[in-house]
Parts: sequence; structure tokens; C-alpha cells
Amino acid sequence: MQRDIQQLLNPALQNIATYRVEGGQQAEIKLNQNESPFDVPMWLKEEIISEFVKEPWNRYPDILPYKGMKAYAEFLGVLPDSVMMSNGSNEMLYTIFLACLGPGRTVLIPTPSFSLYEKIALLLQSRIVTVPMLPGLEFDTDAILRVARDEHVDFIVLSTPNNPTSKSLSFDEIRLITESSDAIVLVDEAYIEFSRQRSILELINRQPNLIVLRTMSKALALAGIRIGFAIANPLLMAELAKPKIPFASGRLAEITLTHVLANYSLVNDAVSYILHERDHIYNELLSISGVEPFLSDTNFLIIRINDAGSVFKSLQSEGILVRNVSGYPLMENCLRFNVGLVDENKRLIEIIRSL
Ligand SMILES: Cc1ncc(COP(=O)(O)O)c(C=O)c1O
Repeated sequence: MQRDIQQLLNPALQNIATYRVEGGQQAEIKLNQNESPFDVPMWLKEEIISEFVKEPWNRYPDILPYKGMKAYAEFLGVLPDSVMMSNGSNEMLYTIFLACLGPGRTVLIPTPSFSLYEKIALLLQSRIVTVPMLPGLEFDTDAILRVARDEHVDFIVLSTPNNPTSKSLSFDEIRLITESSDAIVLVDEAYIEFSRQRSILELINRQPNLIVLRTMSKALALAGIRIGFAIANPLLMAELAKPKIPFASGRLAEITLTHVLANYSLVNDAVSYILHERDHIYNELLSISGVEPFLSDTNFLIIRINDAGSVFKSLQSEGILVRNVSGYPLMENCLRFNVGLVDENKRLIEIIRSL
């Protein structure tokens, strides 16, 4: 072998790291991946599995999961041609970025935001312009509008409510960005069910440049099944379908989705609980000196404390896994944790208070 293996590979690999979850994915009290604390109930799992075993496992599923897409389109009240389902919204992010980016293209990403955006843009050798959040972690809408215009961006990615800041843009701010830019605007609504702001979805038919991204991994408690969706005007959706991995969603995902949508009161109950508990945790944390909680629009909370690194370790030694997000711009000494079960949240607050 004459040449270095690195030289044979995509040069972008030198600037990106393998995805990892700090602290791992196992803990007695696991609050580090913004999951739902409630698993799908056993009676519903059994209903889903009894349908799944009747499927032909030796046969490919549909190229795209049309039955799941039809069910979700009906649930949202949009045309079936407006939606596309993926194997988690991460897979859809790759699809959309493949459709929108490439060498010579520019993407605007507010920062800090979901780390995968930057990674895929780097892989596609695109130019990234970042727009920092304001010091209180709110979006800087004026700067987004200015940079979108001045830098001639092709693609804007807005995670709202945003991971990891937990803050949202308002409906009118998103509309303004979408209307005043001729870029494609991707609005990642992974946490929309927990937001004080309403979804931008109703604009897809009026805004030909708007894509809405949804996941079933948070409010719908299906992170282990892997289901995501893009919703856009049918003309744009037909283009986004071109780079899509065929057969990426298995039969189980499609069946699970239809059953969970048919029992959506379970999701509504879980969301009500999480919103109530989120307020309770926020108020408890406000009363602890040396802890600064941020008002959240998501199923997780951000706190700023002295020496986040050592608090992370102390919590870990008590069996509680949170995310240390101190490495993100503007988030020095910040920790992130999702709302858990009542006893889990109690334990978390107790330990933070004792520290
Ligand atoms: C903003 C945002 N988008 C997308 C995802 C990916 O979700 P999934 O691939 O599970 O649908 C996450 C996961 O944490 C997220 O925070």
C-alpha cells in the first residue's frame, strides 16, 4: 500500500468525529438523550407485535412506507404527497442535506444547535455560516435575517425548539425568515409538542421553500423504533425523495406508527405530565442558590452551575446520567437533562441541592 488510507477517503473525514454519547447509554436514572420516560404500554406492544408476525419477513417492504405516510398525513391533515417517512429523523436529515447541499453551497446554522447538522454539511463539503445565539441562549432573529441575505445562503437549518438550548423561535419569526429568504428553510420540530410556540406546518402549502422535520423519538416515545418525517409542499417533496435510501424503514416501524397514532391520547397524557413536571423542576431549581435554570420549550432543561464537570461526575456516581453541554458555544458550565419519572426528578433535584 503506497498511499495513506486517509488520502483515499473523503477529506472531510479529517474534520469530523465519530458520533458518541458522553457517559454512555446505560444508567440507573437515564436523563441524557431527551427520551420519553414512559415506554409504550405492554398491551399496545402486544397489539403491534401480533400484527408484525403476520407480515412476510422475507419480502422487502415498500420502497417508501406509504401506509405509514398516509396515516401520518391524515393525522396532520395534509396531502399524502406532502410527507415522507424515514428511519429516524437523523436519516431524513442526511436525505434533505444531500438534496440541498454540496460543494459551492452555503448553509446557515444558528449555534449552538444539533451537532449532526454541521457534520453532514462538512461531509458534503459545503460552506457553513453560523449565527450565534444571544447570551441568554435565545435565537438572534435579526442576525439570522441579515446573514441569510449578506452571505447568499442556499439552505437554512432551524432547530426550534432548539437542542441543546431549549429555546424557540416564534411562528412569526420563522415565517419572516422563510418569506424573506430565497433559501430552502428546514425547520426541525423534534420538540414541538413541548413548545409554547405553535408549529410552522400550516405554511407548507404557501411557502415552497419550507421543510418541516418531525421525529417520533421524543413525545411519541418511539426512539427505539426509529421513525422520522419530513413535510413539505409536494413539488419540493418529490425532489427530496430522489436521494432517499430505498427500503430504509422496516415493516415494524410502519405498524408501530399506525397503532401509536390510533392511541394518541397516550401521547397527550405523557406530554401533559412532562410539561407539568418541567415547570415543577424549573421552580425547584430556581430556589437553589448557585443554580441558574433556563426556561425551556422542550422535554429537557438546561442549568448553569459552578463547575459543571464535577457536578456531572457527582451525579454519575449516584447513578444519574445527564449531558454535559459545556463544550457548546455560549454554554460554559451548562448541564442538560430531560424530564424523567417523578422519583427520578426528585432524586436529581435532591443531589443538585446537596452539591
Ligand atoms: C433537534 C433534533 N433533531 C433530530 C434528532 C434526531 O432524532 P431521531 O433520529 O431519533 O428521530 C434529535 C435527537 O436528539 C434532535 O435533538
